[in-house]
Amino acid sequence: MIGKRFSAAAETYDRHAHPQLALAQSVVSMLSETDPEQILELGSGTGLLTRLLTERFPEVRIDAVDVAEKMIAHCRVKFSRFPQINWIVDDAQIFWNDDRYPLIVSSSALHWVSDLRATCANIFQSLEPGGTFALGMMLRGTLKELHELRTEIAPEKIPSIALPTYEETKACLQSSGFSLERRKHSEEEIIYPDAKTFLRAIHEQGVTGGKVSSGNTPLTRTELSHLVADYQETYTSAGGVYATYETATFLLRK
Ligand SMILES: C[S@@+](CC[C@H](N)C(=O)[O-])C[C@H]1O[C@@H](n2cnc3c(N)ncnc32)[C@H](O)[C@@H]1O
Repeated sequence: MIGKRFSAAAETYDRHAHPQLALAQSVVSMLSETDPEQILELGSGTGLLTRLLTERFPEVRIDAVDVAEKMIAHCRVKFSRFPQINWIVDDAQIFWNDDRYPLIVSSSALHWVSDLRATCANIFQSLEPGGTFALGMMLRGTLKELHELRTEIAPEKIPSIALPTYEETKACLQSSGFSLERRKHSEEEIIYPDAKTFLRAIHEQGVTGGKVSSGNTPLTRTELSHLVADYQETYTSAGGVYATYETATFLLRK
């Protein structure tokens, strides 16, 4: 299901992925003292973080895993001049091979997993002793304005699952055995020209229909036009409308 939604967004994601790019940059900025021989990336998507990794570690082999077949197919073409990247279709929650990695990274992806605790435990096992895990996560406050409006307009269609909070994420990581070396927790308002453009942008990122912005039942056309009109009126800012992104970056050691 998640894989299908992101496969559909493979062509359009990068045009609107400014918060995701900022998060990927934050992940890489935490790796200044790291010099790995091999990297595992989980939830590579269209390769925003992967590209930054190739710039920071040009010679290093990267195993890039994504559950969406079309994302991986898209990247195989887009990164055809990077033979050091090994593209793998698999589920980060259970991905396992015989390699123990010195560095595992992930950005804007693991908030989608259904069992974050089990995923963190699996990542811990996949790291070599002393290895590093750098994680960028979207958190519960992300798109909170949209969530509030949806709840008002269609209370019976509230999403059944919510993104993890900062504290939940930190607790999962620590209970998996990681020691926390650095962390950054931030909330940022992104400005979009208008409500329609904003909704189109998050749709093209593959996040509508997901647990942040949509319920189990889609909104009707009437509900959707109310949403656009109310968003435009309620969350106005200089230059357009705003949307909050709450994120965290963690640098962890096994
Ligand atoms: C918002 S995109 C972000 C991708 C990229 N890391 C970035 O920074 O832009 C999230 C990606 O995570 C992938 N994903 C979600 N759940 C996953 C899972 N359980 N295993 C592997 N990939 C997953 C999706 O298919 C999607 O390509």
